[in-house]
Amino acid sequence: MSGIEIERRLPEDFFAAALRDDVLKGLTADPKWLPPKWFYDARGSELFEEITRLPEYYPTRAEREILTARAPEIAALTGAETLAELGSGSSSKTTLLLDALQAAGTLRRYDPIDVSEAALAASSTQLQERYPELTIHAVVTDFEEHLAIPDSAGTRLLVFLGGTIGNLLPEERSVFLGRVRAGLRPGEWLLLGTDLVKDPDTLVAAYDDAAGVTAEFNKNVLAVVDRELNGDFDPNDFEHVALWDPRAEWIEMRLRARRELTVRLRELDLVVSFDAGEELRTEISAKFRREGVERELAAAGFALRQWWTDSEGRFGLSLAEAV
Ligand code: SAH
Ligand code: AVI
Repeated sequence: MSGIEIERRLPEDFFAAALRDDVLKGLTADPKWLPPKWFYDARGSELFEEITRLPEYYPTRAEREILTARAPEIAALTGAETLAELGSGSSSKTTLLLDALQAAGTLRRYDPIDVSEAALAASSTQLQERYPELTIHAVVTDFEEHLAIPDSAGTRLLVFLGGTIGNLLPEERSVFLGRVRAGLRPGEWLLLGTDLVKDPDTLVAAYDDAAGVTAEFNKNVLAVVDRELNGDFDPNDFEHVALWDPRAEWIEMRLRARRELTVRLRELDLVVSFDAGEELRTEISAKFRREGVERELAAAGFALRQWWTDSEGRFGLSLAEAV
């Protein structure tokens, strides 16, 4: 049966309550931080799409190159009937996998899973036009707090593209991968995209583009907090910062206060002070090496069956089997 269903897995007030908790915790901490999932309201999802088209932001193009070359092999190896996708966003690279699974004759169903209902609604509508026979079961959830991989008959291939796993801290990553494994049956598959360690100039440029789109994406979190918590952040008071941490091997995005200032969040009855130059961490984006990915997958109960990179060795795609 084809058609679109959008399932909201979380209680009505979950996002409001989770944002309140995160903001209260993160903005009263020293140093201050906010989790990256709050970038992705409708505007943030659009800005991310714009980022993927920037000359400096290579990960999307590199991953697309790998998928273009390998999708038929992935379809043959997995024989998947259901393609499920975490953090699916616009699902634009996913069509390469859907095409290959359709050509192999196994595809029945697509289950995109994302925190952004706006992104899910837009992508599901577009995909239904392109694949009229496909059953699309979209799930609005927070994959860290309430991971929900819909059950379905036949083999499932769960994909997590874009390097989004790098936006989790290492401890969060291992808990998350354990939950992903627990949500699959032995013999089912995980396809995982990871951006790779490379020269710092290339990395920093990808997170600090000349057109300033990443800066706008970074500051969008302040607009989300202002709207949801009746705040008075002025994005012009903050400067976008992207740093490479060579020890942790991750990019850190921060917002640096241009002057001493206070912000009022009326919904929380909270006043937050910033010193001039004080930084708020908004995202980490970890970069990987093959050995580390293989180790983390094995620790979670996955065996790495295939490892592919793009022709310039910038991005890695792992096909792992639940064992
Ligand atoms: N997979 C796409 C989009 C990556 S952007 C690509 O490769 O281009 C990251 C996506 O993950 C966004 O769509 C965002 O809404 C989603 N996301 C981020 N944190 C999330 C969370 N905690 N739970 C569910 N989705 C999340
Ligand atoms: C979604 N995620 C993998 C992106 C990244 O590269 O870490 C988010 C992003 N942040 C800044 N630019 C893009």
